[in-house]
Amino acid sequence: KIKGFIFDLDGVISNTSVLHSKAWKQIADKVGTPWNDKLAEDLKGVDRMDSLNLILDRGNLQGKYSEEDKLALAQEKNDNYLNLVDQMSPADILPGIKEFLDSLRDNGYLIALASASKNAPTVLEKLQLSEYFQKVVNPALLSKGKPDPEIYTKGAEILDLAPEQCIGIEDAEVGIAAINGAGETSIGIGSADILKDADIVFASTDELTLANIEKAL
Ligand code: G6P
Ligand code: MG
Repeated sequence: KIKGFIFDLDGVISNTSVLHSKAWKQIADKVGTPWNDKLAEDLKGVDRMDSLNLILDRGNLQGKYSEEDKLALAQEKNDNYLNLVDQMSPADILPGIKEFLDSLRDNGYLIALASASKNAPTVLEKLQLSEYFQKVVNPALLSKGKPDPEIYTKGAEILDLAPEQCIGIEDAEVGIAAINGAGETSIGIGSADILKDADIVFASTDELTLANIEKAL
């Protein structure tokens, strides 16, 4: 029986995946890696340094940058991103998410956050959703990023639940792999082609209701 829901943030709760994308494109343009939809999709859910490494790999640029240069580029991306986050408000919560969180709370489900983003607490503040997320996995304490299951395993742990009692919600292919690897039920938000390994896929967050989930399970 399902008792808890573990959320990804970017692309599930808010459209910050678009803001991460914009901020990374500025870095890709700077180093000279051609930007395309495939790269944007592959970056979803991937942590900061792995994202930078992916951009450098795609441009065959790995040899060109020292570790110090890379830290500076990652810092620059984060500054770009935080400039965009600064403009955010509760209007940036994706459709139906507030209602879904309320229905989970009203029905006694536990809620946790499993975002790879070190900026997640800041974004939740901007959206005025922090009160729903008393339980947040700290990505700084993880040894491996998504698609490794670690972050979703920790999510169940901080809720004091077994993996089988949890549903994870993700917009990224690597995120679905992480949920599945942790032995939890996966819900993908987005394209069924890309999120083909998810147990359930909804095209948009406004389809995320307890009734729709029960129907699909
Ligand atoms: C999430 C996003 C990624 C982002 C990562 C790290 O997984 O989907 O786009 O790169 O978090 O975010 P951070 O804010 O710590 O750089
Ligand atoms: Mg995401």
